[in-house]
Amino acid sequence: MPVTVVVGTQWGDEGKGKITDLLSEAADMVVRYQGGNNAGHTIVVEGQRFALTLIPSGVLYPQVTPVIGNGCVIDPAVLLEEMATLKSRGIDPSRVRISANAHLIMPYHRKLDAVMERFLGRHQIGTTRRGIGPAYLDKFSRQGIRVQDLFDPKIFSEKLETVLKDKNKQLVRIYNSLAMEPGPIIEEYLKFAALLRPHVADTSLMIWEAIRDGKNIILEGAQGTLLDIDHGTYPFVTSSHPTAGGAATGSGIGPKAIDNVLGVTKAYISRVGSGPFPTELTNEIGERMVKLGSEFGTVTGRRRRCGWLDIVALRYSVRVNGLTEIALTKLDILSNFETLRVAVAYRSRGDRYEHFPLQQRVLYDCTPIYEDLAGWNEDISGIREFEDLPIEARRYVEYVEDAAGVPVTIVSVGPDRSATLRRR
Ligand code: GDP
Ligand code: IMO
Ligand code: MG
Repeated sequence: MPVTVVVGTQWGDEGKGKITDLLSEAADMVVRYQGGNNAGHTIVVEGQRFALTLIPSGVLYPQVTPVIGNGCVIDPAVLLEEMATLKSRGIDPSRVRISANAHLIMPYHRKLDAVMERFLGRHQIGTTRRGIGPAYLDKFSRQGIRVQDLFDPKIFSEKLETVLKDKNKQLVRIYNSLAMEPGPIIEEYLKFAALLRPHVADTSLMIWEAIRDGKNIILEGAQGTLLDIDHGTYPFVTSSHPTAGGAATGSGIGPKAIDNVLGVTKAYISRVGSGPFPTELTNEIGERMVKLGSEFGTVTGRRRRCGWLDIVALRYSVRVNGLTEIALTKLDILSNFETLRVAVAYRSRGDRYEHFPLQQRVLYDCTPIYEDLAGWNEDISGIREFEDLPIEARRYVEYVEDAAGVPVTIVSVGPDRSATLRRR
C-alpha cells in the first residue's frame, strides 16, 4: 500500500514511534503531519533508544526522506537540536525536509502556554508547555509566522513586531507577566533561518511526486484520536488534528491518495494531563501498569494515568479515522495480570452507551461495563510468531479485532523493533 497513515487511537503514547519505525523499513518517505515537540516518539533498536519529538520516526532508515509537513508547528531550536543529536549518533539529518508553510513556535508562545495554564489553576489542561496551543491559535487567528517568513528578514521583523505588541498586552495586562523585546527574538530566529534553509522545500509537491512514482509513504501522526481538537475530549485536547483527516491537510495531499489507515492501540490505555478517562484505575492495578509499562512521559517525564482497554473509545477511533488495520502494542505488559478487563460499554444515569457519548458529561460520570478475559501469566516478550503466544493472549488479540471490526495485523510485545509479531 503506497500511502499509509499511522494514527494513535487513544490519548497518545500508544507506540506510534515504534510502529512507524517498523513500517519504515519498506518506506521511501515518512511525513509528520501535525503537532510539534509536544510529541515524544520512542524507538528502540538493538538496545539503542531514540526519543524523537519532531523528526519523523522513519529517520533511522537511510533510504527514507523524513518530512515535516505544513500541519506541524516547529520550534526551530528544538528541531536543530534534534538534528544535532541524531548526527552525533551516526544518523544523517541532512535529508530532513521542512514545509515552508509550517508555523513557527515563538518564545511568546511558550511563555503564554505557561502563564495561561497557571491562570487556569485547577482547571488547567495539563499541556506540555511547549507553546503548541498558542502557536496554533496564532495560525488560526492569522497572526502566525511561518517557516518561509524566516527567509525575508524585513517581513519577518515586521510580522514579529506587530504580533509582539499584541502578545505583550496579553502578557502584561492579562497575565501579569513581563513584556518581551523583539530585538533578541529577531536576532535568534534569523540565525535559525540560515541553519534551516537547506531543509526547506515544497513538501506537498515532493509528496505528490513520490505518490506519482509509486513510492511507499507513511504519514505519521502525533498525539491520538481522543486528543484531536474536533473529535477528542475537548477542551482536554491538543490544538491540532491527529485523526486521519488531518493527515491529508497536514501534508498537503488529497484524501483519495491515502490507501491505508493503521491505528496504533495500546493493549491497555493511558493519558497524560487532565480530562475525563472512564476506565482509569486509581488503584494498585493502575499503579502496576504505570510501573511495568514505564508509563512516564517522554517529553515532560510526567506520570501517565493508566486503565483497562476501552473498546467504546476504540470503536469511535475506528470510525472517525476510517481505520483499515490495527497495531496492538504493549501486550507483554498485560502478562502480569490474572484477569484482564475490557470496557465494552458505559452506564450513566440508567442509560447504556455502546457508542462514544454525545455529551461529554457521560465520560465523567459513567461506570464502564467490563467483560473479563483470562490472563496468561507468562512472559511473552521473547515470542516472535503469533501462533506461539499463549492461547489467552491470542484470544485477547482476537477479541480486540472482533470488537473493533478491523484486523489486528501487528502485535508488539516489547519496545525493541524486533519484538513484533506480524499477522496476515
Ligand atoms: P508514541 O508517542 O505513540 O510514539 O509512544 P511513546 O514512545 O511515547 O510511548 C510508548 C512507550 O512504550 C515507549 O517507551 C516505547 O519504547 C514503549 N513500547 C512500545 N511498544 C512496546 C511494547 O510492545 N512493549 C513494551 N513493553 N513497550 C513498548
Ligand atoms: P505523542 O505523540 C500524550 C497532551 C498533553 C495535554 C494535552 C494538550 O507522544 O503521543 P499540548 O501541549 O499539546 O497543548 O497539550 O495533550 N499531549 C500528549 N499526551 N502523548 C502526546 O504525544 C501528547 N501531546 C500532547 O499532556 O493533556
Ligand atoms: Mg509519546
